Amino acid sequence: MKIITLEKTRNDLAQEFSGIGAEIGVEQGVFSEIICLNNNVKKLYSIDAWKSYRGYRDHVRQQKLDSFYELSKMRLAKYNCEIVRKFSKEAASDFIDGALDFVYIDANHEYAHVQDDIMLWVKKVRVGGIVSGHDYVRRKGQDSFYGVVRAVNEYVIENKIEELVIYRGDTSPSWKFIK
Ligand SMILES: C[S@@+](CC[C@H](N)C(=O)[O-])C[C@H]1O[C@@H](n2cnc3c(N)ncnc32)[C@H](O)[C@@H]1O
Repeated sequence: MKIITLEKTRNDLAQEFSGIGAEIGVEQGVFSEIICLNNNVKKLYSIDAWKSYRGYRDHVRQQKLDSFYELSKMRLAKYNCEIVRKFSKEAASDFIDGALDFVYIDANHEYAHVQDDIMLWVKKVRVGGIVSGHDYVRRKGQDSFYGVVRAVNEYVIENKIEELVIYRGDTSPSWKFIK
C-alpha cells in the first residue's frame, strides 16, 4: 500500500466530490454544507441517527442531539440534500450497491464501527468512486475510541487498494481511496 500525504484540507477533498454521495455522521451539518456548496455535487444524503446509544456519547443528552438535527435541517434546507435520520447500517440498506459516487465516513470512531462502516459503504460506491472519511489520527490513550487509522489501514491492505491519500491540512486529517 502506498500512502500519499497532502498538505490539503477536507474542504479541498470536498472539491473532488461530484454526482451523488453520502456523509455518514452529520452532527450539525457543517461538513455536509461544505460538500453541498460544490456545484458538481448533484445530491447529498446526510445520514445520522442523532441518537445517543450505549457506549457512544453517553455524556451527551438526547435533547442536544435533537437540537443538532434541527440545526442540520435548517442549515441544509437550501441544498439538494436529503437528511436521513437513521443508524448507518439501517440507512445503507436503503441504497443499491454502486449507487453512490462518493462517501465520507465520520460517525462512530471506534475500531469495530469504522470497520463496519467501511464495509457497508464501500459497497454502495461505484467502481472509480471516492471512499473517504474523517479523523485519520491516533489519539494517545484513546486507542479504543480512535480506531480509524487501524480500520482504514487494514481495509486498504486486505483489499489491495493501491493508494491511500491523507489530507493532513486540518487538525484532524481525512483519508481517501478510489474504489
Ligand atoms: C463527529 S460527528 C460528525 C461531524 C460531521 N461529519 C462534520 O464534520 O460536520 C459524528 C456524528 O455521528 C453520528 N453517529 C454516531 N454513530 C452513528 C451510527 N452508528 N449511525 C449513524 N450516525 C452515527 C453522531 O450522532 C454524530 O452526530
